[in-house]
Amino acid sequence: MQNIIPHSETQQRTSLHTHKETGLNTSAAPASVAHTRHDDILLVTIDNPPVNALGVDVRRGLMTAIEAADADPAVKAVVIVGAGRNFLGGADIREFGKPPQAPALPDVCNSIEACTKPVVAAIHGAALGGGLEVALGAHYRVALGTAKLGLPEVLLGLLPGAGGTQRTPRLIGAPAALELMLSGRHIGAKEAAKLGLVDKLVEGEDAAAAGLAYARELIASGAAPRRTSEASALSDRSSTQAAIDAARAETSKKARGLFSPLKIVDAVQGALDLPFGDGMALERKLFLACLDSPQRAGLVHAFFAEREAAKAPETRSAQPRAIGSVGIVGGGTMGAGIAVAVLDAGLPVTMIERDDEALARGRANVEKVYDGLIAKGRIKAEAKDAIMARFKGSSSYDALGEVDLVIEAVFEDMAVKQAVFKELDRVCKPGAVLATNTSYLDIDQIAASISRPQDVIGLHFFSPANIMKLLEIVVPAQVAADVVATAFELAKKLKKTAVRAGVCDGFIGNRVLAVYGAAAQAIMEDGASPWQIDKAVRDFGYPMGPFQVSDLAGGDIGWATRKRRAATRDPKARYVQIPDRIAERGWFGQKTGRGYYLYPQGARIGTPDPEVEAIIDAERQRAGITPRSFTDEEIVRRYLAAMINEGANVVHQKIALRPLDVDVTFVHGYGFPRYRGGPMHYADTVGLDKILADIQEFAKEDPLFWQPSPLLVDLVARGEKFASLNK
Ligand code: 3HC
Ligand code: NAI
Repeated sequence: MQNIIPHSETQQRTSLHTHKETGLNTSAAPASVAHTRHDDILLVTIDNPPVNALGVDVRRGLMTAIEAADADPAVKAVVIVGAGRNFLGGADIREFGKPPQAPALPDVCNSIEACTKPVVAAIHGAALGGGLEVALGAHYRVALGTAKLGLPEVLLGLLPGAGGTQRTPRLIGAPAALELMLSGRHIGAKEAAKLGLVDKLVEGEDAAAAGLAYARELIASGAAPRRTSEASALSDRSSTQAAIDAARAETSKKARGLFSPLKIVDAVQGALDLPFGDGMALERKLFLACLDSPQRAGLVHAFFAEREAAKAPETRSAQPRAIGSVGIVGGGTMGAGIAVAVLDAGLPVTMIERDDEALARGRANVEKVYDGLIAKGRIKAEAKDAIMARFKGSSSYDALGEVDLVIEAVFEDMAVKQAVFKELDRVCKPGAVLATNTSYLDIDQIAASISRPQDVIGLHFFSPANIMKLLEIVVPAQVAADVVATAFELAKKLKKTAVRAGVCDGFIGNRVLAVYGAAAQAIMEDGASPWQIDKAVRDFGYPMGPFQVSDLAGGDIGWATRKRRAATRDPKARYVQIPDRIAERGWFGQKTGRGYYLYPQGARIGTPDPEVEAIIDAERQRAGITPRSFTDEEIVRRYLAAMINEGANVVHQKIALRPLDVDVTFVHGYGFPRYRGGPMHYADTVGLDKILADIQEFAKEDPLFWQPSPLLVDLVARGEKFASLNK
């Protein structure tokens, strides 16, 4: 039975009960927290849609409720519960960066813990961050099967700042606490019970009932408040110190420029060394330092941007079509990866390939992914069998007659794609969504070639498609709004981060990439080595530099694109030929053992290649360039200026709806460091006037390449930021 308290109804219901049953005056309590008496138990319900974030009203309401419980001798126990689908989603992230309002969350948690009556947290759905900290302030915790617990503050550039760093290790020990806080991962109810984070698991969906039943048991057994701050899991000092040292060493290695992870370790050290109150003071100091850091601002921007990007105008104006089955045309790199993503979402897949042999290869490509998971012990062989039972293949398009959506992932060639769409037009049922995974081709032209352009859309996945989070939803001129809404719904099912893009060469991501890629090439020809450029870009926060990425993706792909575009290239535009010289030698990167770097014996990490340096020297001479030196800082300035300027063009030309869509694209599809928020957010933090000044300076050497975007010029003139366009 569905027994979750719906958000909107809670207040009326609870306030009625309040007056009738207890006579407690709740008028002082803000509407988002209500307390009602159930015999001798005070049920405190937090109702702050959508996720019961702990905004100032909730914090005040909780304080009031605890005071009421303490003051009323008839109350023998307290139960805290959340309305809607979650317990508490954490601190209200929208309050960060604004002046703090009392009471602070640590004080709220301390008051709950100080309550003289046993307090039970009854958890269903999310108990995250400050939400879990409230539960840890409570004396007892009961969880339903839907519970999802975690301390994800690190993902927002923070540390648990309401006692989480002090209470969690005391309750479950330093190793488990550190792992939770440093990974930020969510855990289920069973794991939480195993760790000792919750005391009791209950089946069903009624958190209030579970909490009340537990409270009755506690009253009957005469249980007293049991304070987490007094828990003893840190009593073995030497093993705790060893765990903290190990976490510090591991974090120093892995955190790569992130600010908050080491502060988490410092706070846990404080939990070991200091009395609880002093540990709380240390936590507060470290929390405020994180709160002030630009990384926190970047990560919070990324959090809201990815949620905002998923709300295209069409998701508001149209209802998605139902998607119960998916066809995929092409079983190569992308087709197979997309098939895995769709199968993992629980949908059946029908794959079409050119002939039986190609189909067998396509199927093998899909199976290889699951075999890899079996080898790593991540899934069992039976799970693979169950998944593959939903996979069908055919070399005849007729097999697609009943599917709701088709994703085409054949060769990047307009004639081949149009031939495929002609077949889809012939066999697919009316209303089927027809999508292409093209990287660059004109989707308007594909759509116009068939009788139902309203059903044609771009779904641009990234490689490997079952892993990469980004999905560019490319919206051609004639597409129906409900098809766009369907694409966003599909993205949700596939757990992808969706961004709406317009049709142009390369959409948002590849179009901007082409420009900063060209900037990197120019820096190389002018004097920097590929290894220096890669290192400078890595030091900025990318996992890899552009030449490493090219070696990983395969230099042949870019080479083919350059040849295709040669005829239409502006003859006046600077064209660096070094990549062609390398590709002509068959040095396509990792798969051929060398590209920009050498990969002896299948090495995954390349070593600089003196022969590549010789090729670069020869090309500089041919182009009449006297090489000069670059600082890493100048490399990054040029690389980013090119990216930001083209990002501005993409917004200006309405290829991206807002700057935040560009940010989400680069964070999720191109390795842009999330803690910098995305290129457009980063530009705001640097100052758009400075970016524009850089571009004007670089334009002195190459005015054709470095043309300031009209949008950037306009924003600087008005003293505005990109953020002003995100609203
Ligand atoms: N504060 C403010 N708004 C929040 C929020 C929060 N903590 N968590 C979610 N929201 C908002 C989202 O922005 C979104 O708003 P929108 O509808 O206007 O776009 C809405 O709530 C729904 O969010 P989701 O789309 O993410 O909903 P889901 O149902 O998919 O997921 C969730 C729910 C698992 C709670 C997910 O929202 C989430 O992970 N939230 C963040 C949790 C978190 O990081 N908490 C820690 C905060 S920091 C903290 O607590 C500091 C403390 O230690 C002092
Ligand atoms: P691929 O060469 O690995 O696979 C293409 C597959 O299509 C082959 O298996 C081929 O047999 C099959 N095919 C060709 N013509 C067909 C037809 N008429 N009917 C059925 N099957 C046919 O190519 P890849 O890399 O998978 O690329 C596919 C598409 O995805 C291209 O449009 C590409 O631009 C795009 N893309 C590629 C990315 C990448 O990183 N490889 C990233 C994003 C998009």
